[in-house]
Amino acid sequence: MPEALIQDFGKTVVAWQRRHGRHTLPWQNTRDPYRVWLSEVMLQQTQVTTVLGYYERFLTRWPKVTDLAAATLDEVLAQWAGLGYYSRARNLHGCAKAVAELHGGAFPGTAAGLQTLPGIGRSTAAAIAAFCFGERVAILDGNVKRVLGRVLAFDGDLASSAAEKRLWDLATELLPEQDVDRYTQGLMDLGATVCGARSPDCLICPVQPMCRGQQQGDPTRYPVKTRKLKRGRRENWWLWVEKQGQVLLHQRPATGVWAGLWTLPMFDDEASARAALPGGELATLPRIQHALTHFDWVLHTLRADAPEGALPGGTWVAREKLASYALPAPLKKLIEES
Ligand code: ADE
Repeated sequence: MPEALIQDFGKTVVAWQRRHGRHTLPWQNTRDPYRVWLSEVMLQQTQVTTVLGYYERFLTRWPKVTDLAAATLDEVLAQWAGLGYYSRARNLHGCAKAVAELHGGAFPGTAAGLQTLPGIGRSTAAAIAAFCFGERVAILDGNVKRVLGRVLAFDGDLASSAAEKRLWDLATELLPEQDVDRYTQGLMDLGATVCGARSPDCLICPVQPMCRGQQQGDPTRYPVKTRKLKRGRRENWWLWVEKQGQVLLHQRPATGVWAGLWTLPMFDDEASARAALPGGELATLPRIQHALTHFDWVLHTLRADAPEGALPGGTWVAREKLASYALPAPLKKLIEES
């Protein structure tokens, strides 16, 4: 890597962040690792605008990491419901417990220490350590891979771990000597507000003069990642049964999609769903399409008042109690709108 780039890149990002970056997000202007950690985990796969409300609700309910550690997993899942990628909520709870029980309630003070905790990978550990302790360590989340991939015209295929390792090394070389916290935020801000996936705004980009991808004419060629996600399709039927203001719910297993969340009793085909409710007058509701990372999910809803006789197993939950159960977003919407 050219020495001039190492000298200029970090300083330019820092100066740009100072003038044009984001400064008023609720997890900024604090060095409290609990607050920063909570925001970074929520932001791992979710946009800022979605995270804002959840973030405030979590902090109001659990102001300290030891409060969160004392909660039950079901309470945490219920608060997380709608944010998606529920393994994050399990790890969040596991991490809070580890901090409370193994670290005396204080997060480890280095990226290496943070990375030993559940749900904290290398990039998240580095972000927390840079923001809270000013540690000089590189982050490399999806946005930063895009920014650095373009600036460096990095043509390694990020589907390969060797190439990813190389990009980590380059990210580390590019770290400025000072202001690593502001630099880290600047990279995130550039990725989110200027160097968009499809339409980078090179005209206003502070590092455009040193961007090799731009100089070559098409920065969107980078970064390279060949392994295309092959999306599948799944179809299920679920039964919405009500009895005296109560809805029949069932808790999903601890692994897989919507792990640990509560849903309507679910079936693989329409015949099985109907067979589970013999004698019931079933109404067919409009189908729901729900896109997950690996597949598109089509959900058919059959609704009925509980008939006399045998019913599928599950837990009867009063409608007004539903808010304290972890329901996946599409089910919440279905119940609210019907
Ligand atoms: N995405 C991940 N971390 C972030 C942060 N600290 N600010 C804004 N967006 C982010």
